[in-house]
Amino acid sequence: MQPRYQLLRILSDGHFHSGEALGATLGMGRSAVWKHLKTLAEWDIVLHAVSGKGYRLAHPLELLDHDAILCFVPDEARSLLPHLEIHHDIDSTNRHLMQKGRLGAASGHVCLAERQQAGRGRRGRAWVSPFGANIYLSVLWRFTLSPEALSGLGLAVGVAVARALQDAGMPGVALKWPNDILWQGRKLAGILLEMTGELSGACSVVVGVGLNVRMPRQTAAMIDQPWVDMETALDAPVSRNEVAGRLLRHLALALRQFEADGLSAFHDEWMRLDAANGKPVTLQLHNDSIAGVGRGIDASGALILDDNGVIRHFPYGEVSLRMVS
Ligand code: BTN
Repeated sequence: MQPRYQLLRILSDGHFHSGEALGATLGMGRSAVWKHLKTLAEWDIVLHAVSGKGYRLAHPLELLDHDAILCFVPDEARSLLPHLEIHHDIDSTNRHLMQKGRLGAASGHVCLAERQQAGRGRRGRAWVSPFGANIYLSVLWRFTLSPEALSGLGLAVGVAVARALQDAGMPGVALKWPNDILWQGRKLAGILLEMTGELSGACSVVVGVGLNVRMPRQTAAMIDQPWVDMETALDAPVSRNEVAGRLLRHLALALRQFEADGLSAFHDEWMRLDAANGKPVTLQLHNDSIAGVGRGIDASGALILDDNGVIRHFPYGEVSLRMVS
């Protein structure tokens, strides 16, 4: 384990710890402790150093913990998730699992990270992923279904994320087609599905979820759309281990259900959660935009738009929806 991560574990309680005590625990001198503590700035972690007292974090930090996460995953879902990896610092949990998938990792393999250096968003965008602040989670799932049968999968995953958030005490969560989770019109979480076809015609999918829990204000300046995090919405501290566990529970059960019943098992719930139903929206196509009123989704997951009385269906693809405020 990296010394700076060991130091962080000790400091995560938010109390002061002297350089001497930290050094004694890690078996190093005070100047080596200071050298490692300085590198925490690379993870955007703010440290208070007070002479006579020592060091403490500006904000207490709940680090991700395997057992604390699994406390919130009941046996039925746990049996679908054979492996859970937690990384301190990774390029992208999705990229990592795409590679693991090619090397034969089992369905239900999970990867979580404290930080992503190259978090991937939809449409080639970056996903801002500072250390210890939010949830960056990916699950590899092997379907016996063809790629065409998976077209509504992102919508089912949206319902699973909304269920997990409701379980975690978060009211007022809504979905924006195809893959955004909103709270009061601001983006709370995003979903990125990446697929690999197989010779058998079956398909493996990496389901990636990024959820804002407590976005540091200095990092937030990099986000180019209206956003919110759970702690702001709830005005209360949130346990990332609990939320990660609840997400894993609902994702595993939803992925199994999607394999058996497809989108039909999620359609009505998606419609109830639809942020755009009956609202004015614009749809961005490649070089064009269409204004209309959102009318939910059809059985295949295509968006239904009321274009001045003409009902049009737009399949999932490189099309994005904007709410007109
Ligand atoms: C979006 O653009 O709305 C989708 C964002 C998805 C981000 C998550 S964070 C965990 C996983 N790993 C990634 O690199 N991206 C997804």
